[in-house]
Amino acid sequence: MTHYDKIILVSNRLPVHIEPTGDESWEVLPASGGLVTALSPLMKRRHGTWIGWAGCADHVPADRLLADFSRDHDYEVRAVPLREAQIQKYYRGFSNQSIWPLFHDMLGYASFDTANWEQYVDVNSVFAETVREQLWGNSFVWIHDYQLLLVGRALRDRGVDQTLNFFLHIPFPSRDLFARMPWKVDLLEAMLAYDHIGFQTQKDLANFIQCVKVFVPEVTVRGRAGRGIARFGGREVRLGEYPISIDFDEFNQGATQPGAAEAAWYIRENMKAPFLMLGLDRLDYTKGIPDRFLALERALEKYPDLQEKISLVQVVVPSRLNVPEYAGLKEELDALAGRINGRFSRHGWLPIYYVFNSLDRTQLLGHYRACDVALITPLRDGMNLVAKEYVASSVDGQGVLILSEFAGAAQQLHRGGLLVNPYDREATADAIYQAYTMEPEEKRRRMRRLRAEVRRNNVHKWVGRFLSEQVSEAATTSVS
Ligand code: UDP
Ligand code: G6P
Repeated sequence: MTHYDKIILVSNRLPVHIEPTGDESWEVLPASGGLVTALSPLMKRRHGTWIGWAGCADHVPADRLLADFSRDHDYEVRAVPLREAQIQKYYRGFSNQSIWPLFHDMLGYASFDTANWEQYVDVNSVFAETVREQLWGNSFVWIHDYQLLLVGRALRDRGVDQTLNFFLHIPFPSRDLFARMPWKVDLLEAMLAYDHIGFQTQKDLANFIQCVKVFVPEVTVRGRAGRGIARFGGREVRLGEYPISIDFDEFNQGATQPGAAEAAWYIRENMKAPFLMLGLDRLDYTKGIPDRFLALERALEKYPDLQEKISLVQVVVPSRLNVPEYAGLKEELDALAGRINGRFSRHGWLPIYYVFNSLDRTQLLGHYRACDVALITPLRDGMNLVAKEYVASSVDGQGVLILSEFAGAAQQLHRGGLLVNPYDREATADAIYQAYTMEPEEKRRRMRRLRAEVRRNNVHKWVGRFLSEQVSEAATTSVS
């Protein structure tokens, strides 16, 4: 039986980012986003090495600043140094202005620039080089997300023949959309340098297989029911569907702690409405926040008894503000929240409490506990962990989840949640009213189902499923 000496996790974003606080001084802050939330429990348990970008330019003494974090968290974090010009073209450019919008079906936001692509190729090689330096013994190498699609091939080019695993946290687009990508064949062939690729949903897996068949016709693919094997260049690539999740116990227990209860009490005391809905998203046009505001406005028009009774607490976590589309969205949200509040507010009541900031864990749990509904309406989302966190934190069993059918999480949460099409303003307004008028017994019944699902299919099971699929490839290999 083979034993893995070490787990090496690779993602663009480390679980922390470094921010300047003045001349020659910096602070280390937690990073946001679903990838970090999902992978942190794995690293805590397995004491591996996490390789990624620390969110700052290469003149910052990242290694020194990250040493304390490594010591406190019992796993090592290693920063990949990137120059400002690389960050601009690889991260803001190709990753977030080409792949991100295209893979989220938002072609209108996508642009394609050769210089950005070239920098993406180069930076993926820089990551590969850092990974290669860390390989020793029998390492389990797991590379994550759309910023690093080419790292596997760059490692192969360096003679690495170790098993390489990859997980895509965002959707994989349909063949018609992917056809627009100028470097589509190169991207697909590079992905086929991995030994094992995981996707969030069956649909993403099916889209990938379809794209491979059409754009790299020499590949043969066979598979069914969420699994597949692609053969290319004399190698086999395992393909699978593994919906990511959260640490249910951590949220379930955390939500019962006095700090979370106190934070929830404070939120309820300070809002003038008896019925609170929560929106909690990174600033991102995929999250459908303007459409959500407009659906709330429609609900207040259509069902006037909701006025002075419900409020949306919308937390927007700052994200990618150096990408113009994100800065533009921020302005749009400011204006829209102002307009809707101006139109409806009275006697101290506001339809929208809009906060542009990140939350620490206690505040996050407080928000989950305080709100009667989670209104999670992305236009497209790989998974959406906020939906699962809300469910795990609904310890009184009374919360209602309104969830977009275009979030990966809808595949697991459709039975207990109220599914909506976020493009359908009327239907979303109706779902808000349905949640408001729902009988307590129905709420409990739905939430019981949701909680059973998230408890069962938690992040530890996700890791286990991915690893065991990888392990079954070698038949005699075990991971510890
Ligand atoms: N989150 C965070 N900081 C905050 C608020 C939320 O890190 O101030 C976390 C949240 O708990 C969740 C993640 O960010 O785990 C968002 O993940 P999701 O899958 O919903 O969306 P993503 O941001 O990955 O697109
Ligand atoms: C999503 C992506 C992650 C990314 C996160 C935050 O969850 O799938 O790869 O890290 O958003 O975005 P950022 O650009 O700040 O890393």
